[in-house]
Amino acid sequence: MKEYIVAGNWKSNKSYLDAKGYVVKLNDYPPLDVKTILAVPAIYADTLFQLSKQKNVAIALQNASSYDDGAYTGEISAKMIASLAIPYCIVGHSERRKLLGETDEQIADKIDQLYLHKITPILCIGETMEERNTGETFNIIRRQLLKGVRSLISDSSFPIIIAYEPIWAIGTGITATEEQAGEVHEFIFQILSEVLGKEKAETIPLLYGGSCNEKNAEALFRQKHIWGGLIGGASLELDSFYNIMRIAAKCNA
Ligand code: 13P
Repeated sequence: MKEYIVAGNWKSNKSYLDAKGYVVKLNDYPPLDVKTILAVPAIYADTLFQLSKQKNVAIALQNASSYDDGAYTGEISAKMIASLAIPYCIVGHSERRKLLGETDEQIADKIDQLYLHKITPILCIGETMEERNTGETFNIIRRQLLKGVRSLISDSSFPIIIAYEPIWAIGTGITATEEQAGEVHEFIFQILSEVLGKEKAETIPLLYGGSCNEKNAEALFRQKHIWGGLIGGASLELDSFYNIMRIAAKCNA
C-alpha cells in the first residue's frame, strides 16, 4: 500500500526569521493525514525541529558528509544529524552532483554514513535533457539507482526514499508529463524488484520532483508508482506547499 509523502526542499533559501515564521505558521494549520518532510538549511535545523509542532511534519537536512566525525572542516556528519534526532536527509541532489561534482560513489558513502546513524536517506536521481534526448535516461537511472541502493542489496532492512528528479524539470517550470514520470517510476520499481525483490520494492516510496506544484501534483501523484513529491520552488511559500500536502492527503484517503 502506498503511503503518500510530500517533501519540501528549501535549498539555500530563507532567512532565519522567515524560516521560523513558516514553521510557526504551519503549526496553526489544520493537521493533514500525510507524511510531510521539510528539508531545511542545516544551520536552522535544530531551531525548526524544536519549533515544529505540526502533526506528521518532520524536519530533514539536504546533505550529509560521506565521512564520519573528524578533521573534515565544514562537513556535517550523519552522527551530528542523528544527535539532533533528525530522521531524514536528502543525498545526491542533482545540484550537488553538478555544482559540487558529487559522484555516485560518494553518494553511496553518504548513504552508508546515514545508515550507521539510523537516518533515512532521500536519494535523488535523474537525467539531463541531453541524456533524455540521446536515449540515455534508463541507463543513467539504472546506474545512479544501483549505486545508491548498494547497501540494501546485502541488507534489505535499511530504509530509503527515492526521488526521481529529471534535471531538465528542476526549477524550469517544465514538468515531466504524467506519462514521462510514470514510465521512469515504473522502471525504477522494476530495477528495485530485480535487485531487492518485489516485496521490498513495494515498500520503497518513490517521489517525483521537478517543477511540481499545486496545479500538476494530483495528476502526477495518481500514477501507479508515484508516492508523492519532492518540491523545491513551490515549497517556499507555505500556502502552495500546504495545498500540495492537501492533494497528497486526498490521494491517501
Ligand atoms: P523545483 O520544484 O523548484 O523544480 O525543484 C525540485 C527540486 O530540486 C527538489 O529537490
